[in-house]
Amino acid sequence: MEREVLLEVKDLDVIYGERKKKYKAVKKVNFKIYKGETFGLVGESGSGKTTIGRAIMRIVPSAGGEILYKGDKINGRISPELDRKVIKEIQMIFQDPQASLNERAKVDYIISEGLMNIEKGISEEERKARVEQAILDVGLLPEFSSRFPHEFSGGQRQRIGIARALIMNPEFIIADEPISALDVSVRAQVLNLLSDMQKKRQITYLFIAHDLSVMRFITDRIGVIHKGRIVEMAETEELITHAIHPYTRALLSAIPMPDPRHERKKKLLVYDPDCHDYAREEPAWMELREGHFVLANTKEADEWMKE
Ligand SMILES: Nc1ncnc2c1ncn2[C@@H]1O[C@H](COP(=O)(O)OP(=O)(O)OP(=O)(O)O)[C@@H](O)[C@H]1O
Ligand SMILES: [Mg+2]
Repeated sequence: MEREVLLEVKDLDVIYGERKKKYKAVKKVNFKIYKGETFGLVGESGSGKTTIGRAIMRIVPSAGGEILYKGDKINGRISPELDRKVIKEIQMIFQDPQASLNERAKVDYIISEGLMNIEKGISEEERKARVEQAILDVGLLPEFSSRFPHEFSGGQRQRIGIARALIMNPEFIIADEPISALDVSVRAQVLNLLSDMQKKRQITYLFIAHDLSVMRFITDRIGVIHKGRIVEMAETEELITHAIHPYTRALLSAIPMPDPRHERKKKLLVYDPDCHDYAREEPAWMELREGHFVLANTKEADEWMKE
């Protein structure tokens, strides 16, 4: 059975700044996300993960390429109807719960702001009921709605951010490092909450992180991004057990192992971006194992596959 593609990113370029200060943060990025799955984007700080999320949310313009949602192009100029649909159906949970909530607004307003924008005629009664439900859904208490963000811990603030997304009944959520700013003790709760929501409501996720060990638990497929380019993509277990690109292998070597004897013998790999010989032959996207794609030229692909 053909799986339904919910989101497709084609040859996406994103450029920050203008004229002499231009910086290309995303370079010819391609990936598909199927309905109901969790697709992970992993890569070091500054690799362009959040920028891709922002481009899908249309917070930053794309300099080239296409973003298709349910087959409709959503970057660039779009019709008011499509705009409304996208605002409702695609939500983002932001990286930093300390910075992403309006400090001067009460939780009640923060959670329902997006809803009021899209459902203009909503009654006060209905709005209150939806806020209360969203608050309960994320495991907070209804009386929190009359408080301000500064009264909450990091984990609670992130739940408020999640409630703000869930109240829209989205189909697709971009979760941008939703747990990295949180205490280790509350990380599992927030992850479990996201995965429960997926089961209950068939939500599709783009999950962004820089830590492959977290990704292993929650994603179905992973794209590895380095300096604005996706260098490797495969199903999660395949990627972790048969990593091919030296950058992915370096990322994996930094994951702590459950077995301490193994841990001591382990060698931390360092990725040298100059290890590629791209002067004679440019890299291209190659399927080196079934469903497992790597950015490589033929010479290095041969070498990697021999190892
Ligand atoms: N508003 C901006 N103006 C100019 N450059 C920016 C802007 N936002 C991000 N950048 C640059 O674009 C690149 C990609 O940034 P981005 O925030 O997408 O990375 P990231 O992968 O999300 O990193 P992190 O893991 O730290 O969140 C970085 O080099 C960053 O400095
Ligand atoms: Mg980021």
